[in-house]
Amino acid sequence: MAKAWLIASGKGGVGKSMVTACLAVALSRLGQRTVVVDADIGLRDQDAILGLENRVVYDVLDVIGKGCTLSQALIPHSLYENLSLLPASQFARVKNLDPKGFRKVVAQLKERFDYVLIDCPAGVERGLRGVVDSADEVLLISTPDDVCMRDVEKTASVLVQKKAPRPWLIVNRLMPELVTAGEMYGAQVVAQTLDLQLMGEVPQDDMIYRALLKHMSPMEVDCEGRRALERIAQRMTGRQVPLPGYGKTPGGLLGRLFRRKVKVMKLQ
Ligand SMILES: Nc1ncnc2c1ncn2[C@@H]1O[C@H](COP(=O)(O)OP(=O)(O)O)[C@@H](O)[C@H]1O
Ligand SMILES: [Mg+2]
Repeated sequence: MAKAWLIASGKGGVGKSMVTACLAVALSRLGQRTVVVDADIGLRDQDAILGLENRVVYDVLDVIGKGCTLSQALIPHSLYENLSLLPASQFARVKNLDPKGFRKVVAQLKERFDYVLIDCPAGVERGLRGVVDSADEVLLISTPDDVCMRDVEKTASVLVQKKAPRPWLIVNRLMPELVTAGEMYGAQVVAQTLDLQLMGEVPQDDMIYRALLKHMSPMEVDCEGRRALERIAQRMTGRQVPLPGYGKTPGGLLGRLFRRKVKVMKLQ
């Protein structure tokens, strides 16, 4: 059955849009019909990340406001046959997004696609609140530092209040040597601290940023970041794929507190 996945975080710049775009490419390569909905109204990153910026005519707000049909607004990707984009509006404000209308559009997308990935605006403000009702699954992205984790915790509690599904966690920008040296939390420690179910971990990988500079998807590059994202996409389809465990759990107090293994949950 088709599912809508909300990809959210606490603060901006943690990799939400990059992770969303890469997971979409990976899922489409697995033969899953996938659509990215750019709900980061006013910023509009996904068309550029997916290399579709010259093809945007209509956006999600046009569809909600019946300024065009869903088919007119959807942009099929030229490289990945199972992948389409529903772009965000670049000039509108988040307050223009009507949650009911958005929910209807997501319901229509679920009739045409297997995976609807919704790239959310950062934070817990109106942008997130406007799209949360549409989610069947929630993926929160955190980097392994206290500031980001605190913001993710806040977002998770807003989601609980809104009766959203229990969020999954992706820990991004892990640096294995720092984890091993005890200077950075490992993914399991982050998941345990936030009490979230771990969906996967992605290392800091310069190839990801270099791909972006070349207007290429990181999923076209042979790198560790790509392999990590492919594993996460496989897990989203319900496959059991072991976590790589970048670096080791640090010793000291944190290590003692969080040495317990985090259970990796299986999708229904
Ligand atoms: N694991 C990673 N390794 C290297 N660069 C990354 C990684 N994750 C994200 N980035 C880079 O960080 C920047 C911010 O990511 P982005 O997806 O735009 O964040 P957000 O959508 O959360 O604001 C982008 O330039 C992206 O390519
Ligand atoms: Mg973004």
